[in-house]
Amino acid sequence: MEILNLLELEAAAQSKMTSMAFDYYVSGADDEITLRENREAFTRLALHYRVLTGLTDRKLETTLFGQKISMPVIAAPTAFQRLAHEKGELATAVATQKAGTIMTLSTIASTSLEEVRASSPDLDLWFQVYMYKDQGLTLELLRRAEAVGVKALALTVDTPFLGRRERDIRNRFSLPDNIVLGNLMRGLNTLPTSAGSGLSAYVKEMFKLNLAFTDLEWLRNHTNLPILVKGICHPQDAIQSLEHGANGIWVSNHGGRQLDTSPATINVLPRVADAVAGAAPIILDGGVRRGTDVVKALALGANAVAIGRPILWSLAIDGEAGVTNTLELLRAEIDAALGLCGYSDLQVPRDLVG
Ligand SMILES: Cc1cc2nc3c(=O)[nH]c(=O)nc-3n(C[C@H](O)[C@H](O)[C@H](O)COP(=O)(O)O)c2cc1C
Repeated sequence: MEILNLLELEAAAQSKMTSMAFDYYVSGADDEITLRENREAFTRLALHYRVLTGLTDRKLETTLFGQKISMPVIAAPTAFQRLAHEKGELATAVATQKAGTIMTLSTIASTSLEEVRASSPDLDLWFQVYMYKDQGLTLELLRRAEAVGVKALALTVDTPFLGRRERDIRNRFSLPDNIVLGNLMRGLNTLPTSAGSGLSAYVKEMFKLNLAFTDLEWLRNHTNLPILVKGICHPQDAIQSLEHGANGIWVSNHGGRQLDTSPATINVLPRVADAVAGAAPIILDGGVRRGTDVVKALALGANAVAIGRPILWSLAIDGEAGVTNTLELLRAEIDAALGLCGYSDLQVPRDLVG
């Protein structure tokens, strides 16, 4: 079937994957209320378009930490992309570079920082940081990220432990033998076979579970790279993150995979944006599937959005070409949405959304 929009990807991808991998990608925590709400909250917002503007051409480019990107969409970090396609993260890297935007590589990617860099020398690469209990290990990952020219770090703070994803528990989620955590050395690069989700057991065993603002300070003191704090939904947490050394705020509820019944990200964005008050760039993710969603996020205070699952589904459907198709569909939709709203660049006012 010809894919015409990002909402069609999930169904098309399902037949291309094992059910264990599909369930891992698709699921949210508990009753998946936040997972659905991320999406539905966008659909309840209206765009109050303007007319007779005399405008024709539109500019979608923007800048994040001095990096120019061709549109306000970047790739969110998602673990284990090789579960979707044998080239996994390498295919995402090529497609995001071709699209002129940023890829965020997960700490627990199935491909290493060095492999991604070797295959995509010019890619604008960010690295998502999960802090390990072993500080030496976190530091080593940080140095490797710097060595391959990563341009920003996203410290994920919404995962003191893994949310309860019941499909993964039921499936005893684990990785096939040929897929490992590419950034980690032997012994730390596989998931334990456990009674429930193997990923949940890994996180409990390995990650620093009591992350605090002092850990953000620690990171700040060990790198000069810009740091975004990913997983912010509360305005006060945004303010405190900036006070403790963050350079950017990533509004996210982990795609509804952590605290169920936490609010839809688009609904908390205006309050976070008010708190940040232009002091730092804001990224938003969670349920972004349409060009109109992107325009709504921009109007409510985001500088750019990130997409998670659509990239995974695209990889499963057609690897690098699939990701390219998805990014170009979204680009065309953003362009159309902006044009029909009556604007020619990303500077859209808040009262566009109501
Ligand atoms: C399968 C999967 C794996 C993910 N892995 C990570 C990860 O390793 N690190 C992280 O910070 N976020 C991770 N996320 C969260 C995404 O970065 C992002 O916040 C979320 O997918 C955005 O929502 P969307 O999928 O509706 O676009 C993951 C999400 C999914 C669906």
